[in-house]
Amino acid sequence: MSFPVHRPRRLRRSEALRGLVRETHLSTSGLIYPMFACPGKGVRAEVSSMPGIYQQSPDRIVEECREVANLGIPAVILFGLPEHKDETGSEAADPNAAVQRSIDAIRKAKLNLLVVTDVCLCEYTSHGHCGVVKNGEVLNDPSIELLANAALSHARAGADIVGPSDMMDGRVGAIRRKLDSNGFADVAILAYAAKYASAFYGPFREAAESTPQFGHRRSYQMDPGNIREALREVALDIDEGADIVMVKPALPYLDVIRAVRERFDVPVAAYNVSGEFSMVKAAARNGWIDEQRIVLEIITGIQRAGASIILTYHAKDLARWLQHC
Ligand code: PBG
Repeated sequence: MSFPVHRPRRLRRSEALRGLVRETHLSTSGLIYPMFACPGKGVRAEVSSMPGIYQQSPDRIVEECREVANLGIPAVILFGLPEHKDETGSEAADPNAAVQRSIDAIRKAKLNLLVVTDVCLCEYTSHGHCGVVKNGEVLNDPSIELLANAALSHARAGADIVGPSDMMDGRVGAIRRKLDSNGFADVAILAYAAKYASAFYGPFREAAESTPQFGHRRSYQMDPGNIREALREVALDIDEGADIVMVKPALPYLDVIRAVRERFDVPVAAYNVSGEFSMVKAAARNGWIDEQRIVLEIITGIQRAGASIILTYHAKDLARWLQHC
């Protein structure tokens, strides 16, 4: 049976009706707000390509974290900038580095906030790659030991969740073993499981000062054309002990989010990355789009595709808008 018996417009006649039949409801409960921790005191420098996003020293990070917690956002993810970069990214595992000091400060402030950390070497290495480089190649096995050490130092500082974003093979297992053998069996792993080699990370690389000094990341991050390979990456990470798996970026990979959601029963996260954020900001500043409506639609789409956890630089704005919805 069809028209005139069936009239889908009947349920779209008022906001009350539309709300009644809405399938996807946004809330702050799955949001993670990314932040950039840098050395020093009293530092707060805006990232030029990411309006409203700052590189901040631990004392200022805590201030913003207080605001984030008060907005009802449950978690932040911290990225770190080092004092000095070197070949092996040694500051990644330094207990006195910006991320570790920020975690400690957040803990001392007793904020109602989960702390996730990004585990990677690219911000810390002089060459800007996510692992150890030898003869122009990014080596896998020596890198995972260093990543595990970085994750351990985050756990020691008080992180709730560590998030390896390097895409080396076997790093989730190496991190799990390292955490478990040091008494951190309760620290969870959010694996950047299907992370694509993407141009959408451009603004982030300005924020994290992590642009590769030679070559590209295509020998470790995934080829944008692949979805079956994403499922294999996710399966491997779950096998190695990942508690949450992530697809990144989000918007050009909604089909991957959906496929992962259907195939696996662990929580699925998606990273609405820097380039996705900056495009919206730039268009909004030009008066070309309605920022609030665009962001609500984007985040609804990512959630509808199957992500229950969303990392987004829009988190604070979203939380404010949702309070008034
Ligand atoms: C580090 C890392 C990157 C992002 C998160 N962790 C950049 C990259 O791989 O080059 C990107 C996040 C964003 O663009 O918002 N490996």
